[in-house]
Amino acid sequence: MKVPIKDQFLRNLQAGGELCGTVKVPGDKSISHRALLFGAIAKGKTIIEGLLPAEDPLSTAECLRSMGVNISPIKKDAIVEVDGVGLNGLKEPEDILNCGNSGTTMRLIIGLLAGQEDHHFILTGDQSLRNRPMKRVGQPLKIMGASVSGRCGGEFAPLAITGKKLRGAVIGTPVASAQIKSAILLAALNAEGSTTVIEPARSRDHSERMLKAFGANLEVGGEMGRHITISPGKDLQGQSIIVPGDISSAAFWLVAGSIIPGSELIIENVGLNPTRTGIIDVLEKMEANIKLFNRRDVAGEPVGDIKILHKKHLKPFNLDGDIMPRLVDEIPILSVAACFCNGISQITGASELRVKETDRLAVMARQLKKMGAKVDEHQDGLTIYGGNELKGCELDSEDDHRVAMSLAIASIMANSNSMLRRSEAAAISYPDFWSDLERLQEKN
Ligand code: S3P
Repeated sequence: MKVPIKDQFLRNLQAGGELCGTVKVPGDKSISHRALLFGAIAKGKTIIEGLLPAEDPLSTAECLRSMGVNISPIKKDAIVEVDGVGLNGLKEPEDILNCGNSGTTMRLIIGLLAGQEDHHFILTGDQSLRNRPMKRVGQPLKIMGASVSGRCGGEFAPLAITGKKLRGAVIGTPVASAQIKSAILLAALNAEGSTTVIEPARSRDHSERMLKAFGANLEVGGEMGRHITISPGKDLQGQSIIVPGDISSAAFWLVAGSIIPGSELIIENVGLNPTRTGIIDVLEKMEANIKLFNRRDVAGEPVGDIKILHKKHLKPFNLDGDIMPRLVDEIPILSVAACFCNGISQITGASELRVKETDRLAVMARQLKKMGAKVDEHQDGLTIYGGNELKGCELDSEDDHRVAMSLAIASIMANSNSMLRRSEAAAISYPDFWSDLERLQEKN
């Protein structure tokens, strides 16, 4: 529910002081959604450890509960149990399914429901989600025989879905998006004949890893693993899943540790899936003082701990479309990092940022400029001139969780305190962000 403007929490952000200590970031958001969704359509129980207890996965859980899936309460440190209903066991919901702010919830659920024969579903979300493109999912599913409609010719929610008998197909996706890919794979589980998704570039592969673990008949092939084939006919079997910490949440501490003088941080239990580690490559290019250790495999995903120390002269960086799928959610915090590099950083091939929870290119440019940063905004990216002093001011997350946390880190580097409007947005993916920040500051 939207908070009226006058009630929005204005948070005081203190400038200065280093960040020191150890932090364990919350569970990976992408993996948490998938654990709930695949658990729901498996046979038997799925037990999830480390599930992210934040607003986005809660939206997924609520939608599944409305369709008759029993899911135990999702709370901090709780082990969550999902009683799977099988591939065809979802009930027709009595009301609209509300996906809140979560694009992953809406897009993956479209794929999940497209093949639930003769059931009728309406999906909606908050104002941001109702303005995010959905045709990119509905259109490919139509090739399989799906019936998905929505406002503006199917582009925007509310969406209506009538479950149909689907047929397998070979589908090329227009953008490298794990949400589109995963929606098609979910639909493919219920189709007649096999389905192959071909991506223009490889997106995060959590669905492939987890579907295989649940027993799906899934093959990854083609150049760079861009062709994924599902042959239906096998039930998914409930699993035990351990969700690693979210590298996209760790990213705020990785950049904070690098740019804030005197900082020294250890971030524990971070997911290091190679389709997500673009941020580490960039920090290495910046010559940040970063060390990965204690690397291990946890329930099919690579995990490790990361130590990061402040570094005085950070190198600027250039990012293009090739690396974008591996760090798409880290652009807001990387644009903060660029302000403290010695030189000009260029971000191109990032037009997908314009259709995230907010238009993140516009919002980051707008907010950083208020602080005195020199930023040029382009259609598909940003040019950021490092080395200008930032000043404290009144900032606004514009209701975007990753913007809220990025601005929090930027404000520590400002020459005076700042205020942040709509800071509560952080709870979408990182409910303890503000208390973790306070704790790391107190260690001074
Ligand atoms: C996600 C995929 C990415 C990412 C989002 C989570 C997922 O979106 O930005 O935060 O869990 O599949 P796209 O698929 O649109 O790139």
